[in-house]
Amino acid sequence: MKPEVVRVEVPGAPYEVAIGPGLLGDIGRRVRLVSKAEKVAVLSDDNVNDLFGTIVERRLGEAGYEVHSLSVTPGEESKCWAVAGQVLETLAEFKLGRGDLIVALGGGVIGDLAGFAAATYLRGIGFVQVPTTLLAQVDSSVGGKTGVDLRAGKNLAGAFKQPMLVAADTTALSSLPQREWASGLAEVVKSAVIDSEEFLGWLEGNAEALRGKEPSVVAAAVRRSVEFKAAVVSADEKELGVRECLNYGHTLGHAIENVAGYGVVSHGEAVAEGMRFAAALAVKVCGASPEFVRRQGDLLDSLGLDSLDVALDPEEVLRAMRNDKKVRLGSIRWVLPTLPGQWSCRPVEESAVLELLEAWSKSKGKGSR
Ligand SMILES: NC(=O)c1ccc[n+]([C@@H]2O[C@H](COP(=O)([O-])OP(=O)(O)OC[C@H]3O[C@@H](n4cnc5c(N)ncnc54)[C@H](O)[C@@H]3O)[C@@H](O)[C@H]2O)c1
Repeated sequence: MKPEVVRVEVPGAPYEVAIGPGLLGDIGRRVRLVSKAEKVAVLSDDNVNDLFGTIVERRLGEAGYEVHSLSVTPGEESKCWAVAGQVLETLAEFKLGRGDLIVALGGGVIGDLAGFAAATYLRGIGFVQVPTTLLAQVDSSVGGKTGVDLRAGKNLAGAFKQPMLVAADTTALSSLPQREWASGLAEVVKSAVIDSEEFLGWLEGNAEALRGKEPSVVAAAVRRSVEFKAAVVSADEKELGVRECLNYGHTLGHAIENVAGYGVVSHGEAVAEGMRFAAALAVKVCGASPEFVRRQGDLLDSLGLDSLDVALDPEEVLRAMRNDKKVRLGSIRWVLPTLPGQWSCRPVEESAVLELLEAWSKSKGKGSR
């Protein structure tokens, strides 16, 4: 299987996303095509560094770079101000210059952290994304949103910084734990529902193969998701309009993660539940058909993204939504699909949301907390 390439046409800084098996073994040559840097700092986390650090450093060294590596503790806790500061200090110790480069080797945490460091170190140096989780390959490595969490909430400090290249090696996904795999699948469903009947139909037809991690189907799912995201961010880099559609499922999803406690419900489980809820809300407020809700539910089930079995307090969930940074002029905004590829983004009366949240919470059984 040969790698495929998707171009992201952001104004002033277009770049390519290469997708396929075996790209880590070719990373030095590919990076050389986009960067004349002398030094490269590879930022990773300890899990990913153990798995892929050696091959990536070796290939970059063979391409003539002076390679430095730094690795952080795995997990969201590393996406913080303190760790970002340590990373910047380490880049200075490595004496990276304006023309040098950061390579983000890891999941979305590493991509966001490395991108933020690249946006701020010396007021901006180049960076390359080498995503190793499904979520990072289908979503976070493309589009240039970078940043860290603050005590007040997730992703509250950051910058738009597009990578010079994304190299998504699909063979790297074979070591991914099931929960991380499911997180990525939820974003694939999001992309398909928002994109088109064609993508959604393809996903339905390939759900079993995807669940079984059939290599050609995994690569095709990554490519289709990247094509979708590339088109969205090329049209609206700074989220002034259409890019809001990428928040489908995340309005309730983020609130569930927040109220249940980060790590109790995974990001993928929360987003999948958020999409079920948003589709039901779309039936209530903008005429989506119950058939569409059932169809999306069947797809999520077939991918192993089961309905959540936790009942959360509706008022508390609503409060968490009000605190989200996506709230605009005091209104919670919802991405509401009526059909595959047809959606609107709008505020919804809180009374209607609360009514549905109460029914949702009651429908959750034994797992209540
Ligand atoms: N910038 C964006 O547009 C954007 C979009 C969506 C999500 N995000 C961010 O992405 C982050 C979540 O990313 P994530 O889900 O990739 O989490 P992550 O980076 O924490 O990775 C999840 C876990 O998988 C491990 N791992 C990574 N690759 C592996 C592999 N190939 N084999 C085995 N283990 C591996 C990591 O060490 C980590 O423990 C969040 O901080 C979220 O805010 C950003």
